[in-house]
Amino acid sequence: MSTLTSCPSWKALQAHRQELDGFRLRDAFAADPARFERLSLRLDDLLVDFSKNLVTDDTVALLVELANERKLPEAIAAMFSGERINVTEDRAVLHVALRQVSDRPILEDGENVLPLVRETKQRFLAFAESVRGGEWRGFTGDTIEDVVNIGIGGSDLGPVMVTEALAPFCDGPRVHFVSNIDGAHLHQTLAKCKPETTLFLVASKTFTTQETLTNARSARSWLLDSLSGEGVVAKHFAALSTNESGVADFGIDPANMFGFWDWVGGRYSLWSAIGTSIALAVGAEAFEELLAGAAEMDEHFATTELSRNIPVLKGLIGAWHQEFFDAHAHAILPYDQNLHRFAAYFQQGDMESNGKGVDREGRRIEGHHTGPIIFGEPGTNGQHAFYQLIHQGTRVIPCDFLAAARPQHPLDEHHRILLANFFAQTEALMKGKTEDEARAELEEKGVTGDRLKELSVHRSFSGNRPTTSFLYQKLDARTLGRLVALYEHAIFVQGWIWNVNSYDQWGVELGKQLAKAILPELEDDVPVETHDASTNGLIGHYKTLRGS
Ligand code: F6P
Repeated sequence: MSTLTSCPSWKALQAHRQELDGFRLRDAFAADPARFERLSLRLDDLLVDFSKNLVTDDTVALLVELANERKLPEAIAAMFSGERINVTEDRAVLHVALRQVSDRPILEDGENVLPLVRETKQRFLAFAESVRGGEWRGFTGDTIEDVVNIGIGGSDLGPVMVTEALAPFCDGPRVHFVSNIDGAHLHQTLAKCKPETTLFLVASKTFTTQETLTNARSARSWLLDSLSGEGVVAKHFAALSTNESGVADFGIDPANMFGFWDWVGGRYSLWSAIGTSIALAVGAEAFEELLAGAAEMDEHFATTELSRNIPVLKGLIGAWHQEFFDAHAHAILPYDQNLHRFAAYFQQGDMESNGKGVDREGRRIEGHHTGPIIFGEPGTNGQHAFYQLIHQGTRVIPCDFLAAARPQHPLDEHHRILLANFFAQTEALMKGKTEDEARAELEEKGVTGDRLKELSVHRSFSGNRPTTSFLYQKLDARTLGRLVALYEHAIFVQGWIWNVNSYDQWGVELGKQLAKAILPELEDDVPVETHDASTNGLIGHYKTLRGS
């Protein structure tokens, strides 16, 4: 593919950006009463409002032109049909197959993957139901009360995010998640569990991840310290992995292994057996609803024209802000306490996918940026923490605001206040407050003279800060499935526009390699001289402190 900056439509966007100098959202809304209707899209009850972004109809048309020039429609079709678009690992990218509802065959290496996908799903859902229903019992015959999912990254963040988001629907055993190699995580979790009633899920695509295997081994020792006899591990451990021999070497009964495939990326794997912890928490029916919601978004993404396609517009507008408004961070702000891990989940989803500096043809990327810095917290907490910078800082930070119209709790007044804040923030970021407006407010309060002059500058807001709002009826499994798939596809769109491979993650390897080399050096008190002066010095200081 040609480089992005050499595309005629990119050059047209550059010229268009110049025309937009001085564009004010406030004025655009005042001049055009239909702006909201035209620039918001719907999928059933989900409304996505793009109208508070720094775009005009011409911008959208040019972005769609860019997407066509970059052959985005062909790329979408290639992903859905199982082409090996993960070029550096020579793999297909088929998380969409995990949730496809129709029987349209999806071929991978000439073979339809759907029968195996569905058979595996039935196995792990039946397992989850048997634990939930009390048929599956621990070694001593007790029912399972606590499930501990041991995994990290994609084998942790998705299930954590979903089980938290669906907390009102969790009616199974308590589900805990241990990811960090910091022993505090496992230690504190096990303190809440009893060996007789605890089931461990070792979730690891590769089954080689240092953190996960170390935690799993320590969990096994904890179990075997209390229970002994043939079959203890078989009754208390299951594995979610693609690595059969690794699972067998660990000593987990192959009957308790639920597999998936190399064409499911770790950060796209919550729809696979990696979601077993989700099914244990909410049940098979709700898990199927989650998949069904994602499948609806897949259908929309695969079949809707680009200019009306929600993930496509989200991706394109994000790339536009980043490139042409120097907007290098992106905030995800759910006005929903239960979505408190949503931003963390997409930190991996987006930054591991599109944080790349080499394009699909192996050329260093020059002249434009790739994946943005993703961060976020639920509203209204974030308002009292980092929104100051979003409102008045020197950088433009586009934000996503998400909320449900109906709460999952009986405190209606709280929900109205929450939503009032949601609407107010998007309005404030768009409109801002001019110095004249600030001055008039201060005058009304009796401020005069130099103080008035000084304060009206500090108390003005530039506005024109882009936001996208996502509003839906309630946060149930189906809606969550739609939202997650929407974000996944927007990441795909941006990755394709930037021509990076969104499905590998070589950038995580170097640190892992070096940690493996350093670990044996920490075993004794001998000074280390094999690294640079700083690393040697840090290790030396650690050894001194440890010794004392
Ligand atoms: O180190 C990054 C990573 O490879 C992620 O891509 C992945 O989600 C995570 O580690 C865990 O990997 P695994 O599921 O193989 O243990």
